[in-house]
Amino acid sequence: MLIKPGDVQKVGNLLMDAVHEEEIRLLNELYEALLKKDLKKCDELMDELLVDLEDHFTTEEELMREFEFFAYPMHKAEHDQMRQRFKEVYDAWKKNKNTEEVVRFLKEEMVPWLKSHVARWDSTTAQQLGD
Ligand SMILES: [Fe+2]
Ligand SMILES: [Fe+2]
Repeated sequence: MLIKPGDVQKVGNLLMDAVHEEEIRLLNELYEALLKKDLKKCDELMDELLVDLEDHFTTEEELMREFEFFAYPMHKAEHDQMRQRFKEVYDAWKKNKNTEEVVRFLKEEMVPWLKSHVARWDSTTAQQLGD
């Protein structure tokens, strides 16, 4: 398992917590497919993750705009960095189907990023929004 649900803290906003849980499920499924080198399944899940990540970030950005969250530009900037980084990894995957490269990205970049982003930004945002 790449990431246990308990590794990412609950932020206390039902919608945001549900979005995070779904993403953890998808990341774990992708990780298993990568380890098995099931390229067809990996390819489907990479497409799914591209859409899911965009949904995740857009949902939070809409909530922040709705509630006029003061740190919107900073929080969105972190999303934009990951959007860009994931797109690079996604494009490289489409070209060379290198499972090790994606595994490395998930372990060394995506998981640490998700944990710290949720702890620092999503939880502060959720406190402001309530549930
Ligand atoms: Fe989030
Ligand atoms: Fe976020």
